[in-house]
Order: sequence, then structure tokens, then C-alpha cells
Amino acid sequence: MKVSQETENKITEMLSEMTVEEKIGQMQQISYESYRPEVFERFRALGAGSFLHVLGEEADEIRAEAKKTRMQIPPIFGIDAIHGHSLCNGAVIFPSQLSAACSWNPSLVEEMGSVTAREVNADGLDWVFSPVLCLGRDTRWGRVDETFGEDPYLAGTMGEAITKGYEKDGLVAACLKHYIGYGEATGGRDSYDTEVSIRKVRETFLPPFRRAVKAGASTVMTAYGSISGIPMTLHKQLLRDILKDEIGFEGFVVTDWYNIQSLRTKQKAVESFHDGVRLAVEAGNDMSMNTFRFYDSAIEQAKAGKLSMQLIDEAVRRILRVKFSLGLFDPDKKRLPREVIGSPEHIEVNRKLTRESLVLLENDGILPLKTKPKRIAVIGPNADDIRAQYGDWTFFSHPNESPADCKPLGDYYTVLRGVKTVFSESEVVYAKGCHLMEETDDSMLAEAVTLAESADIVIAVIGDCLKQNGEGKDRANLELSGRQNELMRRLKQTGKPVITVLVNGKPLCIGEAVKNSDAVIEAFNGGDLGGLCVAELIAGKFNPSGKLPISFPRSSAQIPCYYNQYSGWHGGKYMDVEEGNLYDFGYGLSFTNFSYSNPTLSSAKAKAGDTVTVSVDITNTGNIDGYEIAELYYNDRFSSVLTPEKQLCGFTKLWIKAGETVRAEIPLAVDELSLIDAEGKTVLEPGVFDIMIGGSLASLQTAELIVE
Ligand code: NOJ
Repeated sequence: MKVSQETENKITEMLSEMTVEEKIGQMQQISYESYRPEVFERFRALGAGSFLHVLGEEADEIRAEAKKTRMQIPPIFGIDAIHGHSLCNGAVIFPSQLSAACSWNPSLVEEMGSVTAREVNADGLDWVFSPVLCLGRDTRWGRVDETFGEDPYLAGTMGEAITKGYEKDGLVAACLKHYIGYGEATGGRDSYDTEVSIRKVRETFLPPFRRAVKAGASTVMTAYGSISGIPMTLHKQLLRDILKDEIGFEGFVVTDWYNIQSLRTKQKAVESFHDGVRLAVEAGNDMSMNTFRFYDSAIEQAKAGKLSMQLIDEAVRRILRVKFSLGLFDPDKKRLPREVIGSPEHIEVNRKLTRESLVLLENDGILPLKTKPKRIAVIGPNADDIRAQYGDWTFFSHPNESPADCKPLGDYYTVLRGVKTVFSESEVVYAKGCHLMEETDDSMLAEAVTLAESADIVIAVIGDCLKQNGEGKDRANLELSGRQNELMRRLKQTGKPVITVLVNGKPLCIGEAVKNSDAVIEAFNGGDLGGLCVAELIAGKFNPSGKLPISFPRSSAQIPCYYNQYSGWHGGKYMDVEEGNLYDFGYGLSFTNFSYSNPTLSSAKAKAGDTVTVSVDITNTGNIDGYEIAELYYNDRFSSVLTPEKQLCGFTKLWIKAGETVRAEIPLAVDELSLIDAEGKTVLEPGVFDIMIGGSLASLQTAELIVE
């Protein structure tokens, strides 16, 4: 976001000319689909500040209408472009955020942001409701697929990268959401209370937002829920004092969907609607998403002297600042031609990211395939289901569910099509095998087993579907649904090699499926090219390099199982489940092996403000070139408050040729080792820190750093 004194002066002038109605109109956002036509028409004619879920030409019509109003202030058009401009059929659909995070490649994630910005701009829109900076730590939550995983450092790095991608060319504004703690609602139940202290918020949930604000984010969205009983929409301390005053966020805050109305109807935090409107503005919300009665109520209260004009002016200033920064007032505002939507250059970015987003979880040596199979059986409920592969927030699911015969206009590959394309000389046969949600009859399973018996190898594609991910779709049971485990057992019993591909929104309990597989590939929601890149990986067209941004439990009740927990007394093992996670955060295999040696620090002692370089030799000991992600963690040996046994504080991704050794260097800003003390202050406590580096949590090498 660009801020200049010249613009501020223009805004001051505009504010002096605007009526109360015009100012509050700027604070109102209207969604296309949720109103009676007369309500929509009213706001279109009076020139509401923002519209959402409007696409293409409709936006141009509304823009033209705003030109007829007295102040001629252009509206800002927001869209849920969550993984690509995904509500627009024909745009490039990228992997979900969770999937993209598996790449540990911030440069590619930045490119994903800039491609999305170009496509959104070409469609005539200005503002993406992305990135999601919630953490996926309670994986029962229905929206884990939208996160960059469980770790604040990784989510912050990816959040910063995608924000730069969105904002750097001035084409669109980013929106950091959902502020804050929304992903950790009690019981993983979407929109419920998050019972955490402000200390915890500062330690764990705030850092990604802080980094993305610094990276230039123009807007922030207030979460639905509450923090320890205080509705986020009314949380003055977090919205006004911390976000705006302390962090210095200069853009505007928009509520989430009907937050203001829900203060009364759902959270029962105010008795009258008017109170909700007034208190929400006082707390620091600048724009009301929907809740269209906000407009009349705020005007009435402002005219009666109950709602401060100074606060209204501040909110409108922030909104106009973003509009100026985007060049919305500029008649020559850059608008890319529609042809960029789904263009070959954009598809290439998607291809690179999708390849790097696949995680190889198991491989008994079968991959890459050594010979071309004559006959391949592609089996499973997700083998040919593009809705499941896309995951949430595409034109299939939003604004409304699309008809059953809706097809993507862009080129897309399910695993079945990917296998047919890559193994064009093999005979490829397919059976669904079982349903994910509905009853499966025996004949469906039997057909799949017969096909498997007739083939040289089996590619089994299992996971979850759209009905099991998204808002209001939290799960209490993360076992594979339906008869998927039975299908896997029976496929294994055929004696054929089984390569399992997971197409899913979040970590599931896959222990049984793993036992019945020779190799396992985690693809999450891979977007347009997910199925093609999976087939290319199986054929050995590239060497997989992705690592998990989130931990996999063995059993649903092990949750939360994120890696960076504090230490306790008794080892944390459940007496009735095998120890540890099925897969840890940061885990992922390659077709080669890497060994680490000689970890050193550029200095054994350091103080606040210093940067220490951590170096290590990494050798590719196999005979295939490949990428390796080196992960850097720290442990504060003794601290005044509990701190994680291991916390990620850096990483790097390097291309290492077979047989070669590369010296990896990761800069570590010593302030990254700070903690939030009992008073809520950020403090770097002197003492000994273990600095650990390696290819996974299970294989770290340690050097000692003394902080003075
Ligand atoms: C509700 C969701 O929580 C939010 O993520 C989204 O951006 C808005 N609705 C707008 O669709």
C-alpha cells in the first residue's frame, strides 16, 4: 500500500466536503447474492463504498453508476480469490494455501499472489480476501485447507510472500484474515470462542499478521468468533490498540460476513442493533461487510451525536487511502486485458508450484517407476473428481453451489487424466471403488478389486471431499470416511503394488491406508494441475521436494498434535495410541537422500539486534539431483515462561546435484528468539539457546548460541 502526504491532503479536502451519508456510505459493503434486488439497487444508486462477489461486467456497471453520484467515489470490489481467482471459471486454480505451503518456497508463493492479482485485475476487481493467516492447529476445524499450516513462522513467511505478490504491482489490495485466533475456536468448531490469553495471541497468532502488515497489506478482516469471551468485532484492544496503534497498520479493517448483526443475533453481546453498530466502529472496524442496516443506524447515531464523527472520519480516511493507493480515482488505472486470465504464462507458474507442493510420505523403492506398466488400475473416490481436488472456494462452491453438470473452462487434470496423459502407452482402467459420504454397495468394491487384479500396478486415490471441508464443516472424526480403509485392504490383498495418492483438505488418520501401500503421495487440494503433477512424480519426471506444513495424528483424539508444544511432566503419550505423530511437521521424502554435517554459527555469542548466520554442509548422497529444504529450529533452554521445545526460525531450499555437497547458510535475526513474558512484553532473555538444523524434526544437529 502506498501512503503519501499529497494523498492525505486530498483526503482531508474530500472529508471536508462529504456529507454524513456519503461518509457512512463508504463504510458499507454490499454482497451481490444476499439481498433482495431493491436493497442492492438502493446501495448501487447511492454509491456504497464496496461490493463483494461481483464479477467482470457487473462490476463495470456498478462503477459507472458510482460516477453519477455527487462525490463520484469509485467502489472497491472484493472477491474471495483464495487460491487463484478461483470464483471465476476459466481463471488459473492454484493449489490450496495448505498445499502451496508444502513447497516451502516463498518465491513461488509470491508468484502465485502476483498471478492472482493480474487475473483479478483483468476481471475488473480490486481486492482479494486473502491470505488466510489463521493457524491450522486444531485440525477438526473445517477451514484448515485455507491455512498455511500450523506454524507461525512458516505461515508468516508464506503470508508475507503472497501479500507482496498481491500488492507489489498496485493491481489489487490484500486482506489478512481472520483477525484473530479464529482457527483455534474451542473444539475446532467454526466461529466459536477461542479461549486464549492475549499473551498467547502475541506469541503465536499475531506474528504472521505483523509480518504481512509490514509487507504492505492494505486491509484486514475481523474474525467471526471471540477471544476469551470478547467478540472480535468488539475487541478494541486487539483491533485498535494492537493492530492499528502498536503495529501501525494504516489500511482499513472490514468485518467478516454479517459480524455486526451477529453481535446481537448470534453472540448476544449487545441488546440493541444500534449498540452493535456503534461499538463495532469504536472498536476499530472501518467497513461493515453486509449487515446493510449498518448504514441507516450509523447515520442516525452520528446525527444524534452518539457515534463520534472523528471515528467516522478516521474510518473513511483509511478506506479512501486504500482506494487512492490502488489508483481507483485515476482514469488511466492499469487494467490488464482479459486474455491474461488462464494464460499459458500463468499456467506455468501453477505447474512449478504444484510440482513443489507434492509431498512423498512413503516409498518402499517403487517410485519412480522403473518400467512402464502395461496396464494401470486407477482406483478410488477421488481419482476423477475435480471438485474434491479443487477443494473449497472455487466457482463450484461459491457464491452458491454450482449445478452438477458445471465443468471448469480451463485445462484441468484429475489423477485419472494425469495418468492417462503421462502413461500414454499404458492401458489405464478406472473404478471408483467406494463413495466418501454415501453408502457403498459390495459390487462397487468388487469391481475395483477385479480391475486391480487385472493390472500391473494400482494407483489408489483416496481422501475427503468438499462436503467435509469448509465453513460449518468441522469434523469430529478424522478417520478416512466410508469404506476407504476396506478398499485399501482389499487392493493390497491382490498382491499388486499399490501407490496411494491423497486428495484431501487436511491431515486425516491414514495409518491403515499407509500399511496397505508401497508408496504414499500427499497432494492435498492440488488445483488444475494436481492430477498431472502426481502422475509426473510417479513416472519420475521430477524429484519430489515438498515437506509437510502440518502434523498428521495417528488418531483423531490425539489432536492437537502440532509440533511446537510446551514440555510437560509425563512425555505426553496417550496410553492407548502409539507414541508421536504419524508424520511430523517438516517431514517429506525425496527420490534421493541428503546428509547434514558440520553445523556452525558465525558467532557463538550474540545480543539483541544481531544477525547470526547458521551454516551446514548438505550432501546429496543419492544418484538423482534434487531440492532439499533445510529447517532451522531453536530451543530456549531456560525461560521465565514456557517456550516450545523446538520452534522453527528459518529455512532454505537448495538444489543439490547428485553426489555434491553444498554449504547452506541461513541468517537468524537474534530477536526472533524473543519470548512474550508474563506481562505481555516482547523480551529477549539472556541465556543459552540450542540452534538446530536438519532435514526434519527427527534429524537435527545442534550448535549452542549464548545470548547476552
Ligand atoms: C466469510 C468468510 O469467513 C470469509 O473468509 C470470506 O472472505 C467472506 N465470507 C466473504 O465471502
